[in-house]
Parts: sequence; C-alpha cells; structure tokens
Amino acid sequence: MSKPFTPPSLPPNAALAGIPDAHMRVLQDGDFAAWSALRDAVIAALPDPDFYVREDDEQAFFAAHASPHGETLGVFVGGQLVAYAMVGFPDAAAPDNLGRVIGLAPALHGAVAHVSSCMVLPAWRGHRLQRTLLDIRLMLAQMQGRHLCMAMVSLHNHLSCHNLLRQGLHIAWTGMIDGLQRHVALIDLRHGLHFDMGDELLLRSDDYAALCEAGRAGYAGIGEVRERDAVLLRYVRHLHHERSPW
Ligand SMILES: CC(C)(COP(=O)(O)OP(=O)(O)OC[C@H]1O[C@@H](n2cnc3c(N)ncnc32)[C@H](O)[C@@H]1OP(=O)(O)O)[C@@H](O)C(=O)NCCC(=O)NCCS
Repeated sequence: MSKPFTPPSLPPNAALAGIPDAHMRVLQDGDFAAWSALRDAVIAALPDPDFYVREDDEQAFFAAHASPHGETLGVFVGGQLVAYAMVGFPDAAAPDNLGRVIGLAPALHGAVAHVSSCMVLPAWRGHRLQRTLLDIRLMLAQMQGRHLCMAMVSLHNHLSCHNLLRQGLHIAWTGMIDGLQRHVALIDLRHGLHFDMGDELLLRSDDYAALCEAGRAGYAGIGEVRERDAVLLRYVRHLHHERSPW
C-alpha cells in the first residue's frame, strides 16, 4: 500500500494562481487511464516527433514514477487532468541512472533524481505549469536527499529547454540516449554551478557535434539567445573544485 502523500505547499501567489479552479495531487494507480489519455493527446499533436518519444511500456513507466521510486503529480481543473509531471529516484546501480550516463563518479549515482516527463494539454499552456511542476519536483528530490536533479531534453524542444534553464538547470552533457540525440540538464541543489563568464561559447542549438564537444570540454549551457531563424545556446566554462560533482 502506498503511503499517503501531500505535495509541499506553495507560496499563495505562485503556482496555480493563474488557474483559479486548479488543484494538484499525486496520481495513484486509478489515474493511469487519464494520464495515458493525456499523453496520447499531447504526443499526437507534437510539432516535432523528436520532442518526446514514448516509452515502450507505459504501465512500467507509470509504476517507475510512483512511491517509493518517484512521484507523479497531476493538475486537475474541474475534475479533468490537464497536466502531469514525474520525478524518479533511480537506484544507484540502475543502467539508466543519468548520473551513470553522463559519467558522474559512481559514489554520486545515489544522489541523482530524474526530472522526467511533463506534459500540459494545449488549452492550459502558458500558465507556467511546467515551471511550477519543475519547482515542486526539485523540492521532492531535495526531501529525498537527491541533490543532483537531471532532465533529458530534445535538442529541438526549445520551450522545455528554456524552462529548465530558467529554473537554474544547466546543460551538462549532450549525446546519444537510446538512439536519440539528447541534452542532459542538471542542477546541483547543494553546490550550485561555478563558472567562468569570461570564457564563453555561443553554439547553434542544432549543432549536435559542437554541443557534444562543449560538454566534453567542460563547458555548461546556461542560457539561450533567440534569433529570427535559430536558437543559440550560451556555454560557459565550468569551474571544477573539490566540492563540485564532476
Ligand atoms: C513543454 C510544455 C510542458 C510547457 O508547458 P507550459 O506549462 O505551457 O510551459 P510554461 O507556461 O511553464 O512555460 C512558459 C515559458 O515558456 C516560454 N516559451 C513559450 N514559447 C517558447 C518557445 N517557442 N521557445 C522558448 N520558450 C518559449 C515562455 O516565454 C515562458 O517563459 P518566460 O516566462 O521566461 O517568458 C508543454 O508545451 C507541453 O506539454 N509540450 C508537449 C510535451 C513536451 O514537449 N513536454 C516536455 C518534454 S517531456
């Protein structure tokens, strides 16, 4: 039996204030059908199929983000699920632990949280739901002692990438995951990021080879510059010291 759980409360002016009738709760087994239907609707309408590639086993994916392995938060308006977001607490030894994927020292894999999938129905976009749900997931990870929070994101999903960067994550790594070109965005909730602003690279967001190389060379993506027909990513040199994770 899963233990009762209440998401941390949020400041009154934040969060769901833009949608007066909305409420949030943790999804349970009985919410699987609504969660799956929301995903069907969002995935069918993606402007680029690379934004989100569905997991092979939906039921297993849902179960992997339920207590104690993680949590899935749902936002409801008038009884309808309009958005969800997942956080996972992977085993240190799990092959898909993103700490392992990006080459963090094995001692740190137990501190990793996966900031996994988040989807919002088109009619409810632009209310900062993704960013709000991101904040809450970072809090949940912190409460679990998981201070290295990581999200996988498509190189073409500028909106999602923008929101991750706005909430303080940085692009730590770019490479292939399950045959897909992906960034791994990271926030170290304990130590933050230390970088040299004087050593900057501006890279096209679709220049896969250059983005991979920037990560390998110790640069971190911290911001974006939107141009008329391209998005550029701003990389700065990551300063390593004895307390930084990598
Ligand atoms: C990505 C998604 C979750 C965003 O949800 P949302 O709740 O509408 O997002 P928010 O309201 O929190 O985001 C607002 C921010 O995005 C920015 N934004 C909007 N369009 C943008 C674009 N084309 N490029 C970059 N940023 C954009 C807004 O300016 C705002 O940022 P600001 O406050 O700095 O101005 C939603 O669009 C969605 O479900 N997409 C399909 C599924 C998906 O891609 N999920 C993510 C990967 S699992």
